[in-house]
Amino acid sequence: MTNTEGSVLERERPLDSGREAFLASVLGGLAAPQKTLEAKYFYDARGSRLFDLITELDEYYLTNAETALLQTRAGEIAERVGAGATLVEFGSGSSVKTRILIQAMKDLRAYVPIDISGAHLDAAAKRLAADCGLPVIPLHADYTRAFALPREVPRGRLVGFFPGSTIGNFEPPAASAFLEQARALLGAGARFLVGADLQKDRARLEAAYNDGRGVTADFNLNLLVRINRELGGDFDLGAFRHKAFYNAEEGRIEMHLESTKAQSVELAGRRFDFAAGETIHTENSYKYSLESFAALARHGGWRREAVWQDPEGLFSTHMLIGE
Ligand code: AVJ
Repeated sequence: MTNTEGSVLERERPLDSGREAFLASVLGGLAAPQKTLEAKYFYDARGSRLFDLITELDEYYLTNAETALLQTRAGEIAERVGAGATLVEFGSGSSVKTRILIQAMKDLRAYVPIDISGAHLDAAAKRLAADCGLPVIPLHADYTRAFALPREVPRGRLVGFFPGSTIGNFEPPAASAFLEQARALLGAGARFLVGADLQKDRARLEAAYNDGRGVTADFNLNLLVRINRELGGDFDLGAFRHKAFYNAEEGRIEMHLESTKAQSVELAGRRFDFAAGETIHTENSYKYSLESFAALARHGGWRREAVWQDPEGLFSTHMLIGE
């Protein structure tokens, strides 16, 4: 059966992504001995635009490598998945990559993007539904938490898609827990296509997070812009600077915001003191080897069926099967 008309089914669920949760997270993070802010708060409208610009930078090899890889392997991927599948994407910020898969999987039954940001999700879903003539069932949910697929999602062949090395944002135990939850959601025998950035030389990694145009710096500093605007903070944007480096022991890029002088910041009636050189840790981006990622997947209840790399060996896409 072919779908000649695209449709979008609306879906609402309450999320604790509002101001209260943001404030609680920021106050907790700034009170810790190593100050931290949660990376998920990068993505307001401006942060999402800045991230899109990051993906176009020469230094940020991840997006180009993964897109080229998917373009080359889409036929093989579609063949392994088989006919009549439903594509479930964790996040929905990757429409270029998604379109490559959808075009290769010609007989898809439905596309289910799962994302926390409702407005962005619906707009992207509507465009895709219109362009591809595919039923699109957007799900407003925090995919790091347990949830169920709505009844209108066709059962049978499910294929998950988690591109971008977004999994690198999780601490390894949380990454395992996420994979376990995805396995519970998609079921035994389901496929899961996961993108993971690879360990490589320090210079190449650090350049990707310290671009020459300062886009990544703006992206990082946007967290403070957001706290000032949405929570009434008084961060002096000129007195913090972007810092990103590879922590080889932990196998991760760390991003921080470094206080360039001794200062204090007020937020919600509380005061937070910074020493000169003190940092707020804003993001981890874990880099895997082919082996370490397969081990992680096994912990999460998945067996690896296939793995592909771009010709330079920068990035990996793993095809997992639910055990
Ligand atoms: C979207 C989490 C994959 O870690 O490379 C890009 C976010 N941070 N530049 C990454 C990011 C700084 C990105 N992920």
